[in-house]
Amino acid sequence: MTGVARQPGAGPLPAAERSRRIAEVFDEVAECYDNVGVAWFTPIARELVARLAPEAGERALDLGCGRGAATFALADAVGPAGRVTAVDLSRRMVAATTADAAAQGRPQVEVLLMDAGTPSLPPASYDLAVASFVLFFLPAPVAALRAWRRLLVPGGRVGVSTFTRTRGGLLDDLFLPYLPEPAFGGGAGFGSDDVARMVTAAGFGQVRSEHADIEVRFGSVDQWYAWSRSHGQRAIWQLLSEPDRRRVRAEAASWLAGHRHRDGTTRVTERIRFTIGIVPP
Ligand SMILES: C[S@@+](CC[C@H](N)C(=O)[O-])C[C@H]1O[C@@H](n2cnc3c(N)ncnc32)[C@H](O)[C@@H]1O
Repeated sequence: MTGVARQPGAGPLPAAERSRRIAEVFDEVAECYDNVGVAWFTPIARELVARLAPEAGERALDLGCGRGAATFALADAVGPAGRVTAVDLSRRMVAATTADAAAQGRPQVEVLLMDAGTPSLPPASYDLAVASFVLFFLPAPVAALRAWRRLLVPGGRVGVSTFTRTRGGLLDDLFLPYLPEPAFGGGAGFGSDDVARMVTAAGFGQVRSEHADIEVRFGSVDQWYAWSRSHGQRAIWQLLSEPDRRRVRAEAASWLAGHRHRDGTTRVTERIRFTIGIVPP
């Protein structure tokens, strides 16, 4: 459930309105995002970064940085001699991640308020670029990838992570009976090989998609609920009436209890796609 929530009967949102709503949702969750005791965005972003093998001194770009799940992995890898430019559409994400970078003493990180779809950064000035769970938010993903290619040097690497399912993962099925079909916008075009096709269409070479099964653990329904409301899925909760919210929560409680391990946690595994491309020489 990766898209921007829409009201029933509404057509596709104009790009500017879509961006405004995305920024609004991520502004709302910026404080709790990736911060409710559930390891999810950070391990995935770290895995994405590792697949691009950043080296000390390199210049890296993190598009749609959120709270820096990939930014700080990149900063670790490129070290003090390198540079990480992180951009996001959400003012509060940018403010919080800027504060985190300062608190962690990472002068090589700069965080900018910017639309990743139309970045205004100097061309051919980065060695690698990542976008973890961002591409499906962009109204024109191939155009964005093309813009990112222009920011990279020849031989530069791009890496994007995406869900392999456009719906139904991570308990998303529980929402389905309560939502209109159009609420699931944004997933279209992110099926099996579509992401590799997009990266190729943007002019990258040696494009490949790799997969990893990432496990997420929930200690209780309260933790799942807090987690579910701490990222883009918050937009889906906002479409539900209060009684329907209670129903989804109760169904989640029963599902989590029915799948609980002996250690008291419930584990859900999602297959994540990592798509990598190289700027031709
Ligand atoms: C699911 S979060 C991923 C954040 C981070 N990459 C991570 O892995 O935790 C998506 C992020 O992309 C940002 N975003 C969405 N559309 C964007 C755009 N057009 N330009 C820049 N950032 C965008 C959101 O504000 C949000 O912070």
